[in-house]
Formats: sequence, structure tokens, C-alpha cells
Amino acid sequence: MNSIRTPKRRLITSALPYANGPIHVGHMAGAYLPADIYVRYLRSAGEEVVWVCGSDEHGAAITLRAKKDGITPKEIVDRYHNEMQGAFKGLDISFDHYSRTSSEKHHKVAQDFFLKLLENKSFEVKTEEQYFDQEADQFLADRYITGSCPKCQAEGAYGDQCEKCGSTLSPRELINPKSTLSGSKPVLKPTTLWYLPMGRHEGWLREYIEKGVLNGELHHDAKKWKSHVVGQCKSWIDGGLQSRAMTRDLKWGVPVPVEGAEGKVLYVWLDAPLGYITSTMEWAEKNGQDWRKWWQDPETELMHFIGKDNIVFHCIIFPILLKEHGDFNLPHQVPANEFMNLEGDKISTSRNWAVWVSEFLENNPESSDPMRYVLTSIMPEQKDSEFTWNDYRDRINNELADVLGNFVNRVLVLTRKYYEGAVPAILEGQKLTEVDTSLINELESASEKIGDLILRFRFREAQLEAMNIARKGNKYLTEEEPWKLQKTDPARVEVIMHLACQVVGNLGVLLEPFLPRTAEKISISFGVSGSKWNDASPSLVKPGTILGDLPILFSKVDEETVGAEIAKLGDNDTDKKLNIMPQKEQTTFDNFTSMDLRVATVTECIPVEKTKKLLQLTVDTGLDIRTVVSGIAEHFSPEEVIGRKVVLLVNLAPRNIRGVESQGMVLMATTDDGKLRFITPEEGVNAGDVIS
Ligand code: MF3
Ligand code: ZN
Repeated sequence: MNSIRTPKRRLITSALPYANGPIHVGHMAGAYLPADIYVRYLRSAGEEVVWVCGSDEHGAAITLRAKKDGITPKEIVDRYHNEMQGAFKGLDISFDHYSRTSSEKHHKVAQDFFLKLLENKSFEVKTEEQYFDQEADQFLADRYITGSCPKCQAEGAYGDQCEKCGSTLSPRELINPKSTLSGSKPVLKPTTLWYLPMGRHEGWLREYIEKGVLNGELHHDAKKWKSHVVGQCKSWIDGGLQSRAMTRDLKWGVPVPVEGAEGKVLYVWLDAPLGYITSTMEWAEKNGQDWRKWWQDPETELMHFIGKDNIVFHCIIFPILLKEHGDFNLPHQVPANEFMNLEGDKISTSRNWAVWVSEFLENNPESSDPMRYVLTSIMPEQKDSEFTWNDYRDRINNELADVLGNFVNRVLVLTRKYYEGAVPAILEGQKLTEVDTSLINELESASEKIGDLILRFRFREAQLEAMNIARKGNKYLTEEEPWKLQKTDPARVEVIMHLACQVVGNLGVLLEPFLPRTAEKISISFGVSGSKWNDASPSLVKPGTILGDLPILFSKVDEETVGAEIAKLGDNDTDKKLNIMPQKEQTTFDNFTSMDLRVATVTECIPVEKTKKLLQLTVDTGLDIRTVVSGIAEHFSPEEVIGRKVVLLVNLAPRNIRGVESQGMVLMATTDDGKLRFITPEEGVNAGDVIS
């Protein structure tokens, strides 16, 4: 058996997130941030790598969410496809390409793949009785049907899985089944399904997972797979692999490309992983490359970053599909992460027990690197972990600000003070102390040590090692006390400051996978931007380099911020935020211009008697003085309203509201927190000005 060569190139994927809700920190720590660190490192080390991802836009996750929000699946996926891209960008997640599975291109790719499997006789076609919801006029599978678990008796098990005991289920096994669409009791009705007989594949899968052997040849080093990944796969195989239907009777999805299969779509777990292929094709096309090199050349290594709930799909089902097709590589490594909990509880979208990445960055626009830092520090690599805001504050304040930020700043300030900002050289013949040499040795070995940890998916330790460089530099400066020697032994100070500058310069390279923005700022200031991983060394920074300005790298997190963040958790008012009001139906330009909108000034305001909600406003429209009734009494007192400029719809037909004739309507904005706020015109806009 041949041994394993280092791969010529790597194709990296991260789980395609369901486009049914915003991205939270658990997602990031699971499948995106680890891959980002890995890929940034490989790029810096000059390795050939492509990293693809995209939105998973089919399946019950999408249609159920759409139903809940009363909008179409298309509207849901459009909304969250955008939201998620924003979150990824905000945290500097550097995919080479981000695609989506609802695209025409992907439908074609998935259908062609399915047809090839048909041709290869990979499926068993069966017509059998399936549960059907007569009210919703739909067959029920997966999340559409719930009941008690036949294995552990827990209630609320789904048609595909019991979340209590983790068993995989099929709808017909559920006790007291109920439709999640209408709540009604389903009836049985015959339909045709294409099954993947997974039992056929147990033999080779066991070899592949346990020994890393495929087709009698060594395929990957099974010992390098995480033990929880191998463990989960083994217990699946040991339990016996059941046939799984690869089609569903649904409207939303990739249509089954077979005559007579109208109203059927591909199972989302067949269609979604193929999204990796579509995404690669799109990337290749954009970059003038042949995508086949990335999926079909045995010298390319395929690697999937995922969360642990996706293990079986990537280590068992997807490999079966790829092998059955015949033209594709199988995964060489699946470095799945476990789960990250939050403040003592599971992260939950429905309970709003989550830190939403976009929202967090909106409120803390400078905190992308700090958030990355904390998430990497507690990444659930080997077991579940926990995010708390107190820990967040401590790590930012004690580690990023006090160690890294403080050290870099001290080196900059002292270099400016002693040498007008020019990095000093070590003069020939200058003796080095043991402490100097040990620091030099640290710098000598750092890039390899950190790189090796990254290659073994030990991102927490890798980041810790990189930070240890800063810690050692900080300690060196503190203990060598150049400020006490500058008068008496300036040559010694040159050595100290030279080495301190080297430490900072190296941080500009070695921190890049973890803290890309900070690393960039440091690199620019210390004249090392453009340096690659292997440039890191004790002589990286050239003597004579004039250090550039460097803004404060990290500001401290205060108690107030921590308290406010904790208070937000579980507050389901923010459900409004997640339920962004969908766009209304199209209107015409004529409809719009028929509205006469003007700025008006409120001159008087009193409550409308015997009502809680209404205020009666007297407004100056520039045309006339008139009366308007407005439903804002719960949000504003009359005093708060008098004197304001407001936007008024002046040609609305007069209406009698609680005995007062209202001659127009004041326009208000509804903000995230459910409050009404005035739309205040800018300085210089006056009563009577027309809005168009
Ligand atoms: N959408 C799935 C989830 O969020 C992951 C799909 S991974 C893919 O759990 F391989 F299917 F794309
Ligand atoms: Zn169960």
C-alpha cells in the first residue's frame, strides 16, 4: 500500500448554512472561523488552496420558516442569503467563492448528478404508503412530521430524527404522528420514492472510516481524523445503515429530473453537498481554471469543515454518493467541531438565545478581531464549549488590550522616542545575552510551531502560541528596562529595541490567520506588509525602517456593555428584528406621485379625550393650519411633540377619528424595538417644503 503524500492542492468547504435565519457565533466557531484560519495560513504559506461555501436554500428549514413568517421560500432565502454574506464579511471570513443552491446552475448540477446515479443503478425505487396531510395537501417527512420517539419515547421527535436520543428515524416509526404544518393527524397515501440503499456500502465505508483505505489503497491517515468524528461514524455503521429516501414530495427544491416525477424534489441532503461542487465550478469559471482539477484529480485533498450535527452527512452519505457517481474524490478529512453553548444554555434561534454576528458588529463596528479572538480561544474543537460575556470582556481586556496592544504600543513609542521611529540595528560585535538568544530562538521556531498546530486543527493552541510571542516580547521589554539604560548604555538599548521590533513585525505575519485586521495594521506600521508565513524570522524587520502611525489596537470592554449584552439574551422582542418586514407588493410611479407629502410644524398638541393612544395635533403645513389625529400617545407626551417638524401626508381624505376630524397623516418610523419615532428633516428643511 502506498503511503500518503502531502497533497498538491486542497479544496476546502464549509457547511452551507441554511438561509433561514441570521448567523450566530455558534455557527462561526463551528464551521467558518476554523476554516478561515486554516485557509489564511495555507495562503500565507504559499500552498494551493480554494475555499468554497454558499447558502443552503432548500429543505424544510426554509419552507417552515417561510410559512411561519407568512412569506414565500424565495423571499426567505433572498433575505438570509444577503444577511449571512454580510455577517461573513463583517468577521473577515475569506471564502474564495460563496454560492447558493437555488440558482439555475446548481439545479442543473444536482440533476445531472442524480441522473448519473440513476444510470449507475445506485437507487432503489419504491412505491409505498407515506404520511400525507390532507389539510396542507402535502406528504410529510423530516421536520414536517412529529410524534413520540419509538426508541426513547420522548415527545417531539421528528420524521428524520429524535433530538433527545439522537436516533435516526423514518416517519412511519413515529408513535402518534402529527403534522407540523396543520397539527392534523396524517393519513397514509401511496407515493414513489428513490432510496439510497446505504446497507450495501457498509463494508467499504468501515475500511474508509476506520483505516483510511479506499479501493484497497491508502486514501488518508485515519489516525489524523478527530476521534469524535470517527466515533460517531462507527456507531452509525455498527447500528446498521438503513436505506434513505433521496427524493421528497415537495414543491420547493431541485425537481427530480425524471419523467412522471412531477411534484417531487431531491432530498436536501443530496442537493446541498453538491452545492460545494457548483460553488467550485463558479469559482473556476471566474478564475479561468478547470474545476475538475479540484474534484477529480487524486492529488487534490478534499476537506469539509462542519459542525458535529453534520458528520453523518459528510462522512457517510456524501461519500456514498460521490463513490456511486464514480468521477469524484472522496473527503480526505472532516475536521468537525462540537457545539458552543452560550451563558449556560444551548444556543437557540427560536428563544433568541444567541449572539447574532451582524447585530453584534453593527453595535461594535471595531470588534471583528476581538470577536474572532474570543471565539478561537474557546473553539469547541474536541468537546462542547461555552461563550460568556464575562469571559469575552476578560479576554479582550487582559489579553488583547493589556498584552498585545500594550506591547506593540510601547515598542512604537520607545522607538520614536529614542530613534525618531527608525528601527535600530544590532551593531557588529555587540554581545547578546542569554535572554536575547532565547527570544531569537522563539522567533526562529514560531512559524513552524504555529503552522504545525494549524495543520492539525488545533486552532486554540495555535492562537495561544502566537499570543505567547507577544507575551514574551512584553516580558522581555519589562524585564530588560531599556528606559533605565538609555543614558548609560545606549548600545544595549539598541539591541533590546531591535529585538522588540522584530517581535512586533513577526506578530504582523503570525497573527494574520487569527486577527487579520490587527495583523495588517501592525504589518503596515512595521514595514512588513506583503510578507509571507515563511518570511517570519528574527531578521524580518529591516533596520532603518521608519515605523508608521498605529491607531490604538484594542479598546477595553466595560461593565455596561457586558450587562447590556447579557440582558439582550432571550428577549424575544428581537423576534421582530429577525422578522424584518417583507417588502410590500409593487406599486406604480403614478400611485406614488398621487401622494402629497410635505413638511409641517406642530404648533399645538393635546390628548384626544377618553383615548389612550391618540393625540390631536395642530400643524402648520405652509398651505394652512389644520388638525391631525395621530396614534402616538403611548410613545410621546404632547410636550414632546409641540414644535417638531414632521412629515405629513396632506391629501389623505379627511377622516373622523373619535369625534375629531383628521386632515392628514403624520408619517412615523417603526424601529427595531417596536417603538414609533418621528422622521425629522435635516436643518434647513421648513414647514411647507414638498417631499417627492
Ligand atoms: N445547511 C446545513 C446545516 O446548516 C448544512 C449543509 S452542509 C452541506 O446544518 F453539505 F449539505 F452543504
Ligand atoms: Zn429518542
